[in-house]
Amino acid sequence: MSALLEMSGVTAGYAADIDVLRNVTLGVEAGRITGLIGLNGAGKSTLMKALCGFLRPKAGAVRYDGADVTGIAPHRLIDRGIGYIPQESSLFPYMSVADNLRLPLEHLARTRAQALDVRARIDEMLVHFPAIREKLRAQAGDLSGGQQKMLEFAKAYVLRPRLCLVDEPSIGLAPKIATEVYHWIDLFTAQGMTILLVDHNVRRVVQMSEYIYVLSLGEITAQGRRKDFEGDLHEQVRSWLGVNF
Ligand SMILES: Nc1ncnc2c1ncn2[C@@H]1O[C@H](COP(=O)(O)OP(=O)(O)OP(=O)(O)O)[C@@H](O)[C@H]1O
Ligand SMILES: [Mg+2]
Repeated sequence: MSALLEMSGVTAGYAADIDVLRNVTLGVEAGRITGLIGLNGAGKSTLMKALCGFLRPKAGAVRYDGADVTGIAPHRLIDRGIGYIPQESSLFPYMSVADNLRLPLEHLARTRAQALDVRARIDEMLVHFPAIREKLRAQAGDLSGGQQKMLEFAKAYVLRPRLCLVDEPSIGLAPKIATEVYHWIDLFTAQGMTILLVDHNVRRVVQMSEYIYVLSLGEITAQGRRKDFEGDLHEQVRSWLGVNF
């Protein structure tokens, strides 16, 4: 099976003389969760940014659905069906929750050949994210951390991407809310969405992903199917990452 998203030989960084990613090759296959794990500063978020246009690779290529999308503007990727839930917020804090949901959807409606019913999309989303209904008029920036994360997922959900890049969705959240986050990811996959998941909860990433990559100091140092990562997980990950934790 060929991958929906492929990164091949990508070297990337923020300064001309420092490469944060070095010759990274990976594939994200359609209809499943692919996991990416690594220590703080390994380059996981940088890899996400290089995949979705926020950082142009210095070398190598990114292919999506058979087309070369290396260095394409991020909004063009959203038009093509790639969603991105970044580690930091992507919300407009001074706008209402409703506008945060409506504006990207209206943009998508303008770029689509066939009609898209904005109202129906939001109503359908509220079935899965019922707690958002009473917050629609609130300012996004006034929501709690957990509510903001819920809004991020709801915003991605209404756009119905084929592929969603999800970077550290549970970081800083109470365990109960983190559990909800993982349910939303399950909801996305149940709808047929393809996911690339980065999370500091290594055990959870291994449980949820069918294929896993380990990134260490900007290089892919291990990869395999879930069964290759189960068992004595702690011991394996410790040796892959080359550290004690
Ligand atoms: N905007 C930036 N400008 C310059 N350097 C950056 C920038 N963002 C990240 N870096 C550096 O790139 C390296 C990789 O950072 P990155 O955020 O990709 O790691 P990460 O694996 O996502 O870490 P974490 O687990 O903490 O989220 C780090 O050394 C970091 O300091
Ligand atoms: Mg990160």
